Amino acid sequence: MTTPDPALFRQGKSLVIAIDGPSGSGKSSVSRETARRLHAAYLDTGAMYRAVTWHCLDRGLDLADAAAVESAAKAVTIELSTDPDVESVRVDGVDVTEAIREPRVSTAVSAVATTLGARAELVRRQRQQIVDSGRRIVAEGRDITTVVAPEAEVRILLTASEEARLRRRGEQLEGTQSAEQLRRQVTHRDKLDSAVVNFSQAADGVVTIDSSELDYEQTVSAVLTTIFGVAH
Ligand code: DC
Repeated sequence: MTTPDPALFRQGKSLVIAIDGPSGSGKSSVSRETARRLHAAYLDTGAMYRAVTWHCLDRGLDLADAAAVESAAKAVTIELSTDPDVESVRVDGVDVTEAIREPRVSTAVSAVATTLGARAELVRRQRQQIVDSGRRIVAEGRDITTVVAPEAEVRILLTASEEARLRRRGEQLEGTQSAEQLRRQVTHRDKLDSAVVNFSQAADGVVTIDSSELDYEQTVSAVLTTIFGVAH
């Protein structure tokens, strides 16, 4: 187990950890655990894109109508827990924690993620969440290292081979979806999303961690080692 450097915990010190990567890279569970170990907040930005998508589907909005999606993103109230031990997402007061993980949301979310007006609004809210955390937060997504928090103390791109990513997502969904549904979600969605954000190559100053050959615990250790190495 890597021991945290006490200097990281100096009062008032900003410690923003930005982690990007494709789906199935282990990003969410690893980021959440990293936040726990650092006693920091945790921001799952993908949950915000999912929350807006759930809202649009609930309202029967046409996801191809960029202006409608942008207005919906601006109008909707999203309450997202940033406590790494509490997973909770509410949209206009409705608990959607589980609903936003359903296949109907997963297959539609790229339409929202590629609507630039909606992105701008969510990026604004994500930056606010980082400020509200006292800048002690692990924020994960696709554009955190490059757009949302390029000034973060630590920036990591967590990658994994396509094979490893498909296997992990399959395990996570516990056989509830066919191999084809899975492939569509993981590979096809990444392809759509990468039209607006580049999360397959690390930007300057971003540390790449390839988790293909690492298990969960080893990946958490690799992330912590990077953080302790970079954030003195
Ligand atoms: O990580 P996830 O599968 O929950 O992300 C859901 C969607 O949101 C996915 O299509 C990528 C997109 N997304 C994004 O474009 N930018 C982010 N910062 C986070 C997620």
